[in-house]
Amino acid sequence: MDARILRRHPPAMGQAKGDDFEAARLTVRLDAIAANYRTYCRMTGPCAVAAVVKADAYGMGAAAVAPALVQAGCDSFFVARLAEGVALRKFLPAARIFVLDGCQADAVPALLTHRLIPALNSLADIAAWSAAASAAKTTLDAVIHVDTGMNRLGLGPDELAILSGQSAKRLAGLNVVLMMSHLACADEDSKMNGEQLSRFRQALAMLPPAPASLAASHGAFLGMEYHFDLVRPGVALYGANPQNTAQNLMQTAAIVTGKVLQVRRIDRGDSVGYAATFRAKRPTMLATVALGYADGIPRSLSNTGAAAIHGARADIVGRVSMDLITLDVTDMEVNPGDEAEILGETITLGEVAASAGTNEYEILTRLRRMPRVYEGTTGKDS
Ligand SMILES: Cc1ncc(COP(=O)(O)O)c(C=O)c1O
Repeated sequence: MDARILRRHPPAMGQAKGDDFEAARLTVRLDAIAANYRTYCRMTGPCAVAAVVKADAYGMGAAAVAPALVQAGCDSFFVARLAEGVALRKFLPAARIFVLDGCQADAVPALLTHRLIPALNSLADIAAWSAAASAAKTTLDAVIHVDTGMNRLGLGPDELAILSGQSAKRLAGLNVVLMMSHLACADEDSKMNGEQLSRFRQALAMLPPAPASLAASHGAFLGMEYHFDLVRPGVALYGANPQNTAQNLMQTAAIVTGKVLQVRRIDRGDSVGYAATFRAKRPTMLATVALGYADGIPRSLSNTGAAAIHGARADIVGRVSMDLITLDVTDMEVNPGDEAEILGETITLGEVAASAGTNEYEILTRLRRMPRVYEGTTGKDS
C-alpha cells in the first residue's frame, strides 16, 4: 500500500486557542429552535404550543434549550421521565412541566415537591394522584392520557368507560388541565389518523370538559381539526421536517462537525478501514475525520453517508469506526484542521436519518461525547 500521510493536525497545546482542543462538536442554534417554536405558534394559533424536551431536549441540552423556549413564549413543557422533570424544574421555576411516564405511587413525593404535573395513564395513576391531593388537602393539576390506538400508554377503552361512569368520584381533588392522546402514524397519510381523531373526540365527550391535545410535530400539519387547544411538537423544534415535502419549514438547529485529522492519498485497489469494506477504484484522496460511533454517528453510515467540507459533499468510504470516519476528498482542497460537517445545512438531518436507515429522533438523541456549543441569543427570531 502506497499510503502517505500528507499533514498532521498541527497545533502544539500552547498554540491552540480555546476550542481548538475540540476535535468534534455539536453546535446547537438556540435562535433556530426559538424560530421553529414560533413557526408552530403562527401556524396553529390561537391554539397553544407546548415544547417536548424529553431525552435532554432530544440531545440538544434541556438546560439551555428550555429557557430559550421560555423566552420565545413557551410556558408548557413535556418530559418523559420523572427525573427529567425534576432536573428541568431547576431551570424553569414557573413553567408547567408535564411528566409523560405517569404517576406510579412512588413518584408522588417528587411530583409534589417539584410541582410537576403527571400524565395519568391508567386508573391506578388517577387513584394515586387523587389520593395525593386528598392527603395534601389540596387540588392537584393533572393530565388524563387516553389511548386511541397507539397501545403504549394511556387509558384504554375499558378504563375510559369506568372513568366516564364515575368521573366525579375518581377525579376527586384533581383539576384536569389537559386531556391528551398521541398519534401513531402522524408522519404518514394513514387512515389511522382519522380513526384516532374520532376516538379522541369520543373520549372527550365521555369526560368532563377540559382542554385537549392530540398533535405533536407531524400531527399539527394534518389540519386544524387535529390542533384542539394545545399542540406539543418535539423533533421539529430541533430541525426535523414535520412534513413529507422537499422544503423544510424548520430551521436547522443541530450541526455536528469534526476536524480533519489527516489527509492521505491511496492507490487504486487500496482498501480503507476495518474489514477493508471499501476498495479504491482510482487513486483517491482520503480525509480522516474525528467523528465516530462513540460520538453517536451511526455505524450504518459506513460506505453510505456523506459529510461536507467547505460546503462541498464528500462520501464516507469504509467503515465508521469508534472515533473516526474516512471521506473521499479526491479533487477537493482539504487540509488537516478543516471542519467536516456530518449533520447541518448541507447534510441535513433528514438525509442523515435516511442514509443511516433510522429516523431523525434517533440521530439527534444518540449524539454524545462531543462538547455542545450554543449559538445565538434567545428571544430574537432568526
Ligand atoms: C406523548 C408524546 N407527545 C409528543 C411527543 C413529541 O413528538 P414529536 O417529537 O414527534 O413532535 C412525543 C414524542 O415521542 C410523545 O411521546
